Amino acid sequence: MNATRASAPGKIILFGEHAVVYGQPALAVPVTQVQATATIEPSDEWTIDARDLGRLYRLEEAPTNTPLAAVIRLTLTHLNISLTRHVSRVTVFSTIPIASGLGSGAAVSAAIVRALSEYLGHPLADADVSALVFETEKLLHGTPSGIDNTVIAYQRPVYFIKGQPPLPLQVAQPFRLLIGDTGISSPTKITVGDVRAAHEKEPERYQQLFNQIGAIANKARTIIESGDPRELGPLMSQNHDLLREIGVSSPELEVLVSRARAAGALGAKLSGGGRGGNMIALVTPETEFAVRTALEKAGAKRVIETTISEGANDE
Ligand code: PMV
Repeated sequence: MNATRASAPGKIILFGEHAVVYGQPALAVPVTQVQATATIEPSDEWTIDARDLGRLYRLEEAPTNTPLAAVIRLTLTHLNISLTRHVSRVTVFSTIPIASGLGSGAAVSAAIVRALSEYLGHPLADADVSALVFETEKLLHGTPSGIDNTVIAYQRPVYFIKGQPPLPLQVAQPFRLLIGDTGISSPTKITVGDVRAAHEKEPERYQQLFNQIGAIANKARTIIESGDPRELGPLMSQNHDLLREIGVSSPELEVLVSRARAAGALGAKLSGGGRGGNMIALVTPETEFAVRTALEKAGAKRVIETTISEGANDE
């Protein structure tokens, strides 16, 4: 059998993170500038080689709850193929920083599901890839909403409500974002767990914050689908303020968000689980350079530019 390779993009959440876990809508887009790639090739024994993620082991030695091993076993079970057939080496590379809100875990899993299913002659539909990746996300995140696996498997902007089929998000006018990395890794499982504990302590207050975030996500959807994207700026800033109230910002995120705004970004917010990871800033061709420079001066470890447009995003 020939070696088979497949890739999956990173992602950012534009609006609605955390509230989405409690049934509110959220908007997410793929980020093709960062990618996870999986290659499957014949081997004497099942091996997982993910050296840039610090993992190299034989499948039989991997604990069943290791996401990389779990996604291989789940895919084979889904395809009704025994582990003893098609013994393979699974090699994974990723340029997506881990635990930073860019969907690294889901992208690695999606790349493996796609490559493995193609290798075995049964390429899977986006919905199946998404469902299999969701199972591994549960191992990583505990109680994921499902937004990461969805946007990464479908590879297009989505309007997402937990437990419902995703709706494509139509982008009427392209808009440009800078993604600034604090360089601080922050596991989503911890921030989601902390928000859950806070919500249990103060259910009414948190429910109100989630409702306000949901309302912002709905307004943003209307603007993206039929309005002027510059109007997204104030909504991003409002969403960020609510995320700070929820308790998932951090001093480093606050610095990047406020410097981006001061340098001319139309709006800025943290993106993903928070407490570290990435933030996003809405820029125009006129402000992009100044905002990038401000982010770098303020300590961003990396700044990615991305244009959100119909279907996927471009360099
Ligand atoms: O994987 P991250 O860090 O982008 O976070 C996912 C978004 C959350 O809403 C915080 C969690 C979830 O499962 O939706």
